[in-house]
Amino acid sequence: MTPTPHLEAELGAFADTVLLPGDPLRARHIAEVFLDDAVQVNAVRGALGFTGTHRGERVSVLGTGMGIPSASIYATELAQVHGVRRLVRVGSCGAVRRDLGVRSLVLAAGACTDSGVNRNRYGGMDFAAIADFGLLRAAAEAAEALDTPVHVGNVHSADLFYDPRADRVEVMASMGVLAVEMEAAGIYGVAAAHGVRALTVLTVSDDLHSGEQLTSQERERGFDAMVRLALDAVHRDSAAR
Ligand code: HPA
Repeated sequence: MTPTPHLEAELGAFADTVLLPGDPLRARHIAEVFLDDAVQVNAVRGALGFTGTHRGERVSVLGTGMGIPSASIYATELAQVHGVRRLVRVGSCGAVRRDLGVRSLVLAAGACTDSGVNRNRYGGMDFAAIADFGLLRAAAEAAEALDTPVHVGNVHSADLFYDPRADRVEVMASMGVLAVEMEAAGIYGVAAAHGVRALTVLTVSDDLHSGEQLTSQERERGFDAMVRLALDAVHRDSAAR
């Protein structure tokens, strides 16, 4: 028996800090490009996970799959059983606010949602799903040091990628929501419930107003810039504590 049903890793196999891309192949890419001495620690259900070091600090990466339910399973098992203390989602999103375009970087200070998961956790009331302030500040400082513009604010974690409600994006835009993705609110809820720290960093892969989309090559380049920013934020946060 492994310690949790969805991860074959033994206790101690995951670092205190785990980067969480949605796509398991991105997890492998991060391990290959950014981590030293990376070893694979999970392949159950194709959710590839690796642990290595980055600039001397032990870091893991795990593909969560798409959507709040899938991401919440992995975030919970990491926080509740594997002792992970920092969860940093690195993902893609669709631009909602008109001043964002493809390749824009977003730090999700908060995550709205049409999912019921946080209401279920919070006695039927509306829980404000927010990033850890220290991690958010570290990411903002890292972006400033890299001279990389970032947008900081609310995102929306949608249950439906193919949402039949045509007015959804206008409703989000009317409340200043920057972008739409599918996991952050779930991960922030798990983090709150288990007393761990979480941040979501996103790259805009498609503009929901113009319909513009990044090519797969551009996605990869943008993704690497975001991972670099996320890892810088992790190091800054470690140094500050
Ligand atoms: N909707 C939800 N998630 C997304 C999108 C989108 O348009 N683009 C990238 N992730």
